[in-house]
Amino acid sequence: MKIAILPGDGIGPEIVEQAVHVLNALDEQFEMEIAPVGGAGYEAAGHPLPEATLKLAQDADAVLFGSVGDWKYDTLERALRPEQAILGLRKNLKLFANLRPAILYPELAGASTLKPEVVSGLDILIIRELTGDIYFGQPRGVRECPDGPFKGEREGFDTMRYAETEIRRIAHVAFQTAQKRGKRLTSVDKANVLETFQFWKDIVSDVHREYPDVALDHMYVDNAAMQLVRAPKKFDVIVTGNMFGDILSDAAAMLTGSIGMLPSASLDANNKGLYEPSHGSAPDIAGKGIANPLATILSAAMMLRYSLNKAEQADRIEAAVKAVLAQGLRTPDIYEAGTAKVGTAEMGQAVVAALAR
Ligand code: IPM
Ligand code: MG
Repeated sequence: MKIAILPGDGIGPEIVEQAVHVLNALDEQFEMEIAPVGGAGYEAAGHPLPEATLKLAQDADAVLFGSVGDWKYDTLERALRPEQAILGLRKNLKLFANLRPAILYPELAGASTLKPEVVSGLDILIIRELTGDIYFGQPRGVRECPDGPFKGEREGFDTMRYAETEIRRIAHVAFQTAQKRGKRLTSVDKANVLETFQFWKDIVSDVHREYPDVALDHMYVDNAAMQLVRAPKKFDVIVTGNMFGDILSDAAAMLTGSIGMLPSASLDANNKGLYEPSHGSAPDIAGKGIANPLATILSAAMMLRYSLNKAEQADRIEAAVKAVLAQGLRTPDIYEAGTAKVGTAEMGQAVVAALAR
């Protein structure tokens, strides 16, 4: 089995290196090939998603992705910016289902900005549609405003749209995932204002008829944002569109105190996937050796579980991560008085050591 390793920019290379050490420490050996992406792709080949990198990702059984982006590329035209690499991979590999778990490890209950009783034991999963919505809808651009009170002046515009197939397939993923968890699904929309999301709501309700064992409720996105910080444990699985999912998953991540702990999976219809930490490239701390590698290590575990069919190896990695937290090891993002502050490499080595025990 072959894994494409795409470290990217910022802290990406440091954290991916630790995840690779962890993969190499398993009983099973995987073929791994590394390629530049994002700003690194632009530097190496003049494009954030070089052709050779895309081909490697297409040919591999799974992709382990670090992060892309750096302020120094902010002045490039949009098509050449690092973010286009991840958007291009999602679109080209048809990775329509994005799974973003938000789990609060008991050891880190104090790291959340919310009261411990509100978040302790939190275990929710956001399923974000990833290849449609206003992110990819055409037409888009800047044009001369064709009508209305601002007719004739310049306007920026994007298009929010969802085809029935796109909604049905993400709804099936969501119901099937909920069946394997607490059997509760919340579909988040803005049906009170947007046609796209009234349609979304109707289709999700229709798919629900095939899953009578799952309890479905619908929630407007503004209310969902509020409930996420008010009583997040009420949720089990949340399914939503690309734009709302982008925003809600950041909020959900922060409930756990550190986005540095959260993995994610982006899957196609055959469970081939791209695995990346939920956090970004953090250029402000890149190269300092202090980034938390656990989200990437946990992403590697998700990869073993969902794409490589190695659930046992995934369990081992997750147990090793729990063990290092129980040992009191903390990178600065999750550090609290009374624990031991360690850097990126030390944390990775500790996970490898825990695997061996
Ligand atoms: C994410 C990120 C991306 C997104 C950016 C980097 C394009 O915020 O994965 O959530 O908006 O999807
Ligand atoms: Mg985001």
